[in-house]
Amino acid sequence: MPQKTKKSNTSTQTPKPVKALKATLRIRVSNSEAHYGGNLVSGSKIMEYFGDVATELLIRLDGDEGLFRAYDNVEFLAPVFGGDYLEIEGEITEIGNTSRKMVFTAKKVIEPEPSIAPSAARILKDPIVVVKASGTCVTPKHLQRKLS
Ligand SMILES: CC(C)(COP(=O)(O)OP(=O)(O)OC[C@H]1O[C@@H](n2cnc3c(N)ncnc32)[C@H](O)[C@@H]1OP(=O)(O)O)[C@@H](O)C(=O)NCCC(=O)NCCS
Repeated sequence: MPQKTKKSNTSTQTPKPVKALKATLRIRVSNSEAHYGGNLVSGSKIMEYFGDVATELLIRLDGDEGLFRAYDNVEFLAPVFGGDYLEIEGEITEIGNTSRKMVFTAKKVIEPEPSIAPSAARILKDPIVVVKASGTCVTPKHLQRKLS
């Protein structure tokens, strides 16, 4: 009877672990970004940061910056002031033909304490979610390079 040969475990069919499609940006909002009374920063500024996170996600997935097609939800939950430090996170939740659905969160992690001194600031033990959003970006088919 012919002996069966054992298949090696290093078969090319072993599924690759799926990488989490996440990106994070940490920035200090400068005082020069304040647009409204009381040093308040415009909500559109935070959406610009979401755009930067979205761009990184698309570069990681497709090797291309892609384009933002639509937001389906944006919620401004707490004010952002000049001098705040923000942590902006994004994640791809669904991959279509050319569309990539994403969710975003911006959290305040440090805030100034001008009542103590112009240079005083504190670390927030519990970061404050300031903006949440979800939307869809598009990478045209001919620009997708299937990097991951
Ligand atoms: C983004 C852009 C290239 C898409 O053009 P397009 O390919 O003709 O767009 P389509 O309407 O055919 O849709 C492309 C994909 O987006 C999806 N889509 C379209 N409108 C959508 C919406 N409102 N919400 C969610 N998904 C949407 C489609 O279902 C399609 O998905 P699929 O390919 O996975 O099936 C074009 O609209 C554009 O140039 N817009 C301007 C982008 C821009 O300047 N953004 C701001 C700076 S980044």
